[in-house]
Amino acid sequence: MNLCIKISSFALVFLFSQFSQAEATMFRDVVHPHTNQKLSKNDWRNESRAMDTFIDDLLSKMTLDEKIGQLDLQSGYRGVTGPFVNAAYEQQIRNGSVGAIFNAYGAQFGKRLQTIAVEQTRLGIPIIIGHDVIHGHKTIFPQSIGEAASWDLDAIKHSARIAAKEASADGIMWTFAPMADMVRDPRWGRVSESAGEDPFLTSAVSVARVKGFQGENISLNDTIMATAKHFVGYGASQGGRDYNTTDISENRLWNLYLPPFKAMLDAGVTTFMTGFNDLNGIPVTANQYLLETVLRDKWGFKGFVVTDYTAVNELVAHGYARDEKHGAQIAFNSGADMDMVGQTYLKYLKPLIAENKVTEARLNEAVRRVLEMKWRLGLFEDPYRYHDESRAAQRILTKENLEAATDMARRSMVLLKNQNQALPIDSNKVDSIALIGPLADNRFDMIGNWAGAGNRDSQPVTVREGLSNLLDDKVKIRYAKGATHSYLLSHTGMSSLMGIDVPVSGQTKQDLQSDIDEALKIAKASDVVVMVLGEDQRMSGEASSRTELTLPGNQQALMEALRSLNKPLILVVMSGRPNDLRWADSNVDAILHAWYPGTMGGQAVADVLLGKYNPAGKLPMTFPRTVGQVPLFYNHKNTGRPIASSNPAHTPAEYTSRYDDSLNTPLYAFGHGLSYTQFKYDAPTLSSTRLDQNGELTLTVKVTNIGDRAGEEVIQLYTHQKVGSITRPVKELKGFQKLAFEVGETKTVAFTLTPDDLAFYRADMSWGTEPGEFEVMVGGASNKVQTLTFTLVD
Ligand code: BGC
Repeated sequence: MNLCIKISSFALVFLFSQFSQAEATMFRDVVHPHTNQKLSKNDWRNESRAMDTFIDDLLSKMTLDEKIGQLDLQSGYRGVTGPFVNAAYEQQIRNGSVGAIFNAYGAQFGKRLQTIAVEQTRLGIPIIIGHDVIHGHKTIFPQSIGEAASWDLDAIKHSARIAAKEASADGIMWTFAPMADMVRDPRWGRVSESAGEDPFLTSAVSVARVKGFQGENISLNDTIMATAKHFVGYGASQGGRDYNTTDISENRLWNLYLPPFKAMLDAGVTTFMTGFNDLNGIPVTANQYLLETVLRDKWGFKGFVVTDYTAVNELVAHGYARDEKHGAQIAFNSGADMDMVGQTYLKYLKPLIAENKVTEARLNEAVRRVLEMKWRLGLFEDPYRYHDESRAAQRILTKENLEAATDMARRSMVLLKNQNQALPIDSNKVDSIALIGPLADNRFDMIGNWAGAGNRDSQPVTVREGLSNLLDDKVKIRYAKGATHSYLLSHTGMSSLMGIDVPVSGQTKQDLQSDIDEALKIAKASDVVVMVLGEDQRMSGEASSRTELTLPGNQQALMEALRSLNKPLILVVMSGRPNDLRWADSNVDAILHAWYPGTMGGQAVADVLLGKYNPAGKLPMTFPRTVGQVPLFYNHKNTGRPIASSNPAHTPAEYTSRYDDSLNTPLYAFGHGLSYTQFKYDAPTLSSTRLDQNGELTLTVKVTNIGDRAGEEVIQLYTHQKVGSITRPVKELKGFQKLAFEVGETKTVAFTLTPDDLAFYRADMSWGTEPGEFEVMVGGASNKVQTLTFTLVD
């Protein structure tokens, strides 16, 4: 009864006039509808009939307001000490107008909110607590694009599994990940959250993440629901400007953008999130074709669809809804079940139902979907299953988790260039290393963006610390910051509205020069120079688009100054996107891309620099030479006038599809990534040059480690259909295997191809194959392949 004293007398009268105390807690004492036996845990998970009966019963008791409340997702606030909510917010939960909450992690805090929902509302329906657990919860793994660069599905799944274990111990039962938006424009800041430019790799990575987050069963208290986001096309925003218009042909939508979402659905993803984008004139949040016809009717999705943050309200600015009420009507009727933050459903669904613009049947459908997930999470059985504080202490930031984060970070790194084997640094041969750069001794940026619960201040291991952990006093490390990695001038916010460029870093020209002078001084005194440069992590992520891909601040000047010393010069890049590394590619000895490597990132970088780990990452996204080539991607079409044109009338080559001032080719191709060892590919063979509709083909290739250390290689398989009912990409990834090789070891690698692998949405939008000539390519990068041909026969 203590509990009752805390709530207002109005609420008390309401509570008791409508419902008895026994009924308020009934959901924890449910009996089997047929046998009258109390349900065991297993029944709760597996008895869908029991679930239906339970939800039918619950729905029959719910008022319109209570139902609408289930469709409202609210955000907690972020304070210095973590998430919090105020009294008004708690009252909203008490009123039953919050079905789910995010930015509200912490076992104790979550328990407080859950207690209000379960013990102080009329029906005691538990809330779902979500969070953006994107690349780790408190143990932060590499930024998503970095994980994708590992091409290591087991490691990616493991990373998501650990994230789920930590998050679920911290009161979270739902993550807004994976983001499976395919991206072809590195100006877009959310490239960092993606798995890159390829639908096959994006699908594989996203499925690994769904499996890792959701585990075998979402009702286990160490698993969390995953979200397939952002459905769909968001990554194709015009000009790489976030939130911008997308215009994607139906064929491209089905062949490129939808497959990762279908793959996640097949892997059992429980929720979908709509994107912010206007796709072909209809914002996806109110796109009935996508949310109903595709997702429900064609694909049979059974979970619920949540909108992105205030995406319903934004339908007005899109010019698709007259006002927010109209927005709520069209989004809800189109299939968006839950409204994130904007409260449009809370405000308008009731009047819309009264006006017959929304049916109660649609309301019941959406509420049922949400309640089903609450059931499947096991919340009706035990609403506090994620709120055991002792578990948080045991599961979060454990030694094992940190080791996994180190492992994943090492796997994510891509060796872009390594002239004369400048890397690894042989600590027996150098006496001193000059470690230079704004990211060399930097904790804050190390964990990248979307690391909401991650500690940026004391936890991350910096590169400087990582190196000192490995080197004894024989090798001296001299450190200097050398440059700034943020914009020097502000082009955003009020200053740009007023047409003024404002210095951001607060540093004068003299400060910047003296940073470079200090770097030069320590570099002169050292044997090797390692620069750790890149982007401020705030330059990637949401609302972080760039028009330049160059290294920001005065880092270019720093690199040029250091080059003039003619010392071995190594560049480690930390950033969330492909950068323009043209100058570095021609002027430094080795380049290692480390993305934002996470809590253990500095250790992982040091392990790679000193050869304790042999890098094996491969690019999930093309690195252009210049931003002017964007969009540049490997699976492009050939055009009628490709550069290597076979039409003699096209010589000289001017009248081909190319730039006058740049090569067409990227600086680093999709799938590129070096190792400290070398792999030799023998000539591949095909089991037949003919593939029947019911048959299969095996491509076999011998790969040998011909270098002097053990290493891993990602062997990639691509196909190309030479003629199609619609023109086909010059190459499409169809398979890959990441294998470990001892020194001198040869492995015979086999890939099996069936007609299914060659199927696509054809000109008439039907799914299937087309007989004819194909190329099949195998190699260690998309631009380093050997090609064979075969015929697919009818
Ligand atoms: C982002 C989503 C994210 C949501 C909740 C939005 O701004 O687009 O990806 O899940 O916020 O934080």
